[in-house]
Amino acid sequence: MRVAVIGTGYVGLVSGACLAELGHRVTCVDVDAGKIERLKGGEIPIFEPGLEELVRRNVENGRLTFTTSFAEAIPDAEAISIAVGTPSAADGSADMRYVDAASEEIGRHLSGYAVIATKSTVPVGTSERVTSLVAGQTSHPFDVVSNPETLREGRAVYDFLHPSRIIIGVSSERAADVMTHLFAYLDCPKVVTDPRSAELTKYAANAFLATKISFINEMSHLCEDVGADVEAVAKGMGLDPRIGKDFLRAGLGWGGSCFPKDVRALSKLGESVSHPLPVVNAAIATNRMTRTRVVDRLEKALGGFEGKTVAVLGRAFKDNTDDTRESAAVDIVKELARRGATVRADDPVARVPSEQAGFDLVHAADPYEAAQGAHAAVLATEWEEFRTLDLARLKSVMAGDVLMDGRNLLKPDEARAQGFRYLRVGKRIV
Ligand code: NAD
Ligand code: UGA
Repeated sequence: MRVAVIGTGYVGLVSGACLAELGHRVTCVDVDAGKIERLKGGEIPIFEPGLEELVRRNVENGRLTFTTSFAEAIPDAEAISIAVGTPSAADGSADMRYVDAASEEIGRHLSGYAVIATKSTVPVGTSERVTSLVAGQTSHPFDVVSNPETLREGRAVYDFLHPSRIIIGVSSERAADVMTHLFAYLDCPKVVTDPRSAELTKYAANAFLATKISFINEMSHLCEDVGADVEAVAKGMGLDPRIGKDFLRAGLGWGGSCFPKDVRALSKLGESVSHPLPVVNAAIATNRMTRTRVVDRLEKALGGFEGKTVAVLGRAFKDNTDDTRESAAVDIVKELARRGATVRADDPVARVPSEQAGFDLVHAADPYEAAQGAHAAVLATEWEEFRTLDLARLKSVMAGDVLMDGRNLLKPDEARAQGFRYLRVGKRIV
C-alpha cells in the first residue's frame, strides 16, 4: 500500500520505518526542515534502539522516503497516519494545534479516496474534528479512523512490530478494510470499534498504567514507614494473574512525554463534561508526592542542602531513551537546585536543555565526573549501566557518603561495604 505518515518524531519515524519494513511504500512528512534534511542524510534525530538500521534498510530498498512537502506525500496515499505531537496546553488539556494544521494540509492535497488515521493521542471527539477540518479543504471522499499507538520509547521498534493489540476506531467498512490490510502482517488481536471508544481506550490504558505505578509508590511510602519491603510486596501481588507483575516497580514516579500529559488531558476531559475523575486525580497527586519525598529524604540525610553538591545519575525519563520530557530525574534536579543544592548530572545519552532545567546544569561526562566532590548521589534513571557502577570508584571521588537509589538498582550489601549510607525506596527507613 502507499502510505503517508505525518510527523517524524518517536511515533511517526518508528511507524514509517516499520510500515516500510512490512512492505508498504511510505513517505514521511515533517514541517521541521532540519529534521527532514538529517533524515535524508541518513542521520536519525532521536535515540531509539534498532531504528537506524531499520531506516537505512528501507531507504536503500526505496520503500521509505522523507519530505517536507504534503503535495509530494498525500495525493497518492491510500492510508495517511497523523503522528504529530499533542502536548499539554496551559490548562492541562491536549493542545490540538498540530493535529489541526496537519488535517487541513492533508485536506488541501487529497486527490481521491484515502483513509486518514489518527495515531497521535487525542481527546474523544477528535475523529469528528479532523473530519470537519479535512472536509473544509476538499471535495474528495475520505474516512477518518482512530488508530492510537501503544509503543513504548526505548522499545519502540519491537513494540510496533509485536503489538499486544491494534485499536481501530472506524465508522465505515471501507475504512476498516484499508486498516486491516495496512496491518495484515501483524499477528495480534485487532480491536475494531467506534472512533470515540478507540480514542478513550488510549487515554484509559495510559492512565491505568500510571495509576498502577502510583499505587505501588503509595505502598512504597507506607513500606518505608511501617518497615516492610516494597519489592516483596510487589512480587507477592504481581504473581496474582489478575494483578500482573508489570508496572509495579516503585521508584520516583512516572514521567515522560506521554503519561503526565495524557493523565492530565483525561482529567480535563472529565472536567469538561462535569464528570471529575477522582482515581485519576489521585494518581497525579501521588506522583507529585513521590518526587518530593525523595528530595525530603535526601535533605534530611544531608542536614540541609546549603553548601552541598548532589550528583544526579540519569537525566532521561527512563532507560534506553534520550527523552527528558517530564523526567523524574529532571524534576529532582530542579527541586534540589530550588532548595539550594549545587547539582551535577550525568546520563548515558540524554541531555537537558538549559531552558528545561531553568539553569545551566553541569553535564558531566560520566557518573564519576558527576560525583566528583558531591556530598550525595541520586540514582534517578533505571539505565542498565548504573546497575554495574564501580561503587568503590564512585565513593572515592565523592566528598560525602549518601547514596540514594531511586530505582532500587544496586545491591545494598555492596553499597554499604563501600562505606555508603545507602538509601532505597520502599524499604524501612533506618
Ligand atoms: P514528537 O514531538 O517526537 O514528534 C512530533 C513530530 O511532528 C515533530 O517532528 C514535529 O516537527 C512534527 N509536526 C508537528 N506539526 C506537524 C505538521 N503540521 N505536519 C507535519 N509534521 C508536524 O512526538 P511523539 O513522541 O512522536 O508523539 C506523537 C504523538 O503520538 C503524541 O500524540 C503522543 O502522545 C503519541 N504517542 C507517543 C508515544 C511515544 O512513545 N512517544 C507512544 C504512543 C503515542
Ligand atoms: C508509555 C506506555 O507504556 C506505552 O504503551 C504508550 O504507548 C506510551 O506511554 C505513550 O502513550 O506514549 P513510555 O512513556 O515510553 O510508554 O514509557 P513506560 O515504559 O510506560 O514508562 C513510563 C514511566 O513510568 C517512566 O517514567 C518509567 O520510569 C515509569 N515506570 C514504569 C515506573 O516508575 N515503574 C514501572 O514499573 C514502570
